[in-house]
Amino acid sequence: MSKSLVQFIIEEQRHIPGATGDFTGLLSDIEVACKQIAHAVNKGALIGVLGSAGSENVQGETQKKLDVITNEIFLKNNEWAGHLAAMASEEMDEIYPIPAQYPRGKYLLTFDPLDGSSNIDVNISVGTIFSILRAPEGVTNPKTEDFLQPGTKQVCAGYALYGPATMLVITTGHGVNGFTLDRDIGEFMLTHPNMQIPADTQEFAINMSNQRYWEAPVKRYIDECMKGKDGGREKNFNMRWVASMVAEVHRILTRGGIFMYPFDTKEAGKAGKLRLLYEANPMSFIVEQAGGASSTGRERIMELKPSGLHQRVPVILGSKNEVERVVSYHKGA
Ligand code: AHG
Ligand code: MN
Ligand code: MN
Repeated sequence: MSKSLVQFIIEEQRHIPGATGDFTGLLSDIEVACKQIAHAVNKGALIGVLGSAGSENVQGETQKKLDVITNEIFLKNNEWAGHLAAMASEEMDEIYPIPAQYPRGKYLLTFDPLDGSSNIDVNISVGTIFSILRAPEGVTNPKTEDFLQPGTKQVCAGYALYGPATMLVITTGHGVNGFTLDRDIGEFMLTHPNMQIPADTQEFAINMSNQRYWEAPVKRYIDECMKGKDGGREKNFNMRWVASMVAEVHRILTRGGIFMYPFDTKEAGKAGKLRLLYEANPMSFIVEQAGGASSTGRERIMELKPSGLHQRVPVILGSKNEVERVVSYHKGA
């Protein structure tokens, strides 16, 4: 019989000298939040949660009702137990300090409560992405700058995928493990131990409608993929675009691939679309831990020193050999 997520993390904790159980507690609160989100997403129109909330987030994006609901679910499940000092979310302008009535802990949590939310009304997979950092030594009242740590400092990263099955995929820096929600017993069970991304792939994912805004190295790479064997590559390529990063990353963890939301000139002042703290860093940690690579094209994403809470970055991640090829095109440019 496969083991539950709770058993898995408690057993992992035993290998960490001095572990207090704080991290295990935090992860199990996150797990409960993801189950509640899975429930809301799964009920959909039956409980009136589809459609727009009529508000905008700090990025100027229209919020879906479920963006707001899932954000609230994450806050409520993670604020009370005393593991966290503060949280930050894609859907909130400012950081969220733990309310005064609760004890404060040593961790910081950042999250994208509903990733791919443009897909929610059309019943296509969405997800949740999270990242856990340590609050700097001695800091009990964190400020925004305490969140601005490079991705290499992450203690844990994970995502929940609300697809045909609900899954939770996590890393604590010792490989990547995937769990599937067994709704009959209400537990995430280890179904995908030690996930590995094949180094080679014949599948790319990019929003082709942005082609005219890309830089030359990305144009060159995609052009070569499109031409395949007729254009100097040794193989032909296939393309996918779900518009839900969680779903794309999960596909890549399962069978390989390269995913790109590269630098583009579509909107002045935006270096890319995806957010460093809520999307790029956690996904980069997971991808690297599964043997893949992740870069802006010029730098390893995990080594970037964040300049702002809602900073956006170009993202190129997945099968190592293809990511390295795109990076080499940037070097030559
Ligand atoms: P979110 O729903 O959290 O705003 O994120 C959507 C992101 C990402 O998941 C996806 O890869 C990308 O935006 C899709 O962008 P396009 O609509 O430009 O294709
Ligand atoms: Mn997102
Ligand atoms: Mn989102």
